[in-house]
Parts: sequence; structure tokens; C-alpha cells
Amino acid sequence: MERIKLNDGNTIPVVGFGVFLIPNDGSTYKAVSDALKVGYRHIDTAAAYFNEEEVGKAVRDSGIPREEIFITSKLWIQDYGYEPAKKGIDASLSKLDTGWIDLYLLHQPYFDVAGAWKALEEAKKEGKLKSIGVSNMTPRLWNKYVSQFATMPAVNQVECNPFFQQRELRKILDAADVKIEAYFPLGHGAKNLLDNPLIDSLAKKYNKNSGQIILRFEVQDGLIVLPKSTNPARIAGNIDIFDFELTQDEMERMRGLDTGKGTHDPETPGMGEMLLEKFKIHD
Ligand code: A2P
Repeated sequence: MERIKLNDGNTIPVVGFGVFLIPNDGSTYKAVSDALKVGYRHIDTAAAYFNEEEVGKAVRDSGIPREEIFITSKLWIQDYGYEPAKKGIDASLSKLDTGWIDLYLLHQPYFDVAGAWKALEEAKKEGKLKSIGVSNMTPRLWNKYVSQFATMPAVNQVECNPFFQQRELRKILDAADVKIEAYFPLGHGAKNLLDNPLIDSLAKKYNKNSGQIILRFEVQDGLIVLPKSTNPARIAGNIDIFDFELTQDEMERMRGLDTGKGTHDPETPGMGEMLLEKFKIHD
């Protein structure tokens, strides 16, 4: 698995296995165990996914040295502000029980973001968190919040796929050497993306499936990708993207698919309150 360097010197595997919506009823343990068996070395969870315990157990039981597995988790907005964030970080560390967390993100950009960030910075200094970053920050939210931070995030995890390439955000982040992590890198399975004629023709040329072409394009374009699949063959296939390379011309044609629009707008009024209402991770 290829890794790339973050702006704090740590490295991260470019493809990760996401566990959003997988229940903590044995399913997460099985999914993560299977993913590790087929070669994933990067698992992306969150406090608000309610499955950190099983991610941690699968990693501990895998027999793979801890240093070889990159674990990401995220602080939920219910725990924002400096003091609550310190507790939230410790809760994630205790649920995962994997010694440290490789990357810890502020899951959503609402409420006391700066206070929560300060707690992440301190936990990084203490070695509890190796790298820290943010998520769901549009260019406007990035400029608003990051100007209040003492240190630069290592990543911003956002929705990103060939129809929504985040070019404006990427200009800002590239200048600060901040990496984008793409969630919904396959457009959340949108048929018009997976069946796109350009992607389809490249799939035939390279003897890969459409999903692999999309992921290859994204990784070759400098992104870290978090594809989601429940299908064992596609789970394995989605990391089998390192034995071919798109030409510069093909990369340009793929860049031409951008429409500049995604499905989630973090700037929607009331979004923070709505999310807080929807996901309560403790009393
Ligand atoms: P499945 O679980 O049946 O594999 P995203 O990662 O953008 O959220 O997209 C996830 C969706 O894309 C899921 O519906 C998943 O379905 C589908 N998917 C995952 N990998 C591939 C692939 N390699 N080719 C086509 N569809 C895929």
C-alpha cells in the first residue's frame, strides 16, 4: 500500500477502509478483520460511528504490528470546546484501546471549533494523537476557523469525486501542504458516475472496473481516498489500483468531468444543530 507524507512528517496509506454505518454488533469487527486480511492498512472511524470498540479489537486481534496500521477517528460536535474535547479524545483512546490514534479529526465545523482544536493540539504534543486534522470544511469555513488555530491541520476530509473535484479548496490547501481525504470518492455509488463513458472506456483499456479507475485517478491526483463497499470482491479490488497508471492526457480528461457540485453542503444553515440532534453519542 502506497503512503504519502503529511505536513507534520507522518505518512498515511493512500487508501483507507471506512466503517460509517457498520454496526458495533460484530459486523464492524468482521469487516475490519477482512479488510486487514486483504491488505488495507488504514481504517477510518469516528466517535459518532459508534463502532470504535470493534475497530480497536479487530486491529488488536489481527496479529499485524500496531505501527503498520493507520487508525483515524473523529471528535463529535457534542464534545467541542476545550474541556469537553479533552474528555472526548480520551473516550476515543479508551474505546479503541490501540495505544495511540494515528489521525484524529474535528468531524464537523460547527460550535466551539477553536477550543476543540486546542485540545487536539495538546493531545498531539502528549503523543496520544500522532496527526490532527479537520473535516467538512469548505473554503469559507476553512478560512474562518483555521485562522484561529496555532497549528495547521494535516488533512481536511471532505466529499470529493470526479464530478466534485474541490478545485477551489485544493488551491488553498495545496499552498499549505494540507492533504484532502476524499469521502464518497465513488460518488456514493452514483450510477451516472460509475457508468460514465470516459470512465467505462478507461476501465476496458486497463482491464479494471469503473471504481478502480476513479480511485486510481484520485490517488494519482494526490488525494487520500476512503471508498466504501460491503462486497468482498470490490473491497479487495478497491486497493488493487497500484499496477497501472493513467496517462497525462487521461488525467486531464478525468479532470474535465468536474461539475463543481456535491451532495452535502456544510454551509447549509442549521446544519450543526441538525447533526447534533441526529447523533447523540452520550448523555
Ligand atoms: P457495494 O457496497 O455493493 O460495493 P462511496 O465510497 O463513494 O460512498 O461509494 C460507495 C458505493 O459504491 C457503494 O454503493 C458500493 O457498493 C459502490 N462501490 C464500491 N466499490 C465499487 C467499485 N469498485 N465499483 C463499483 N461500485 C463500487
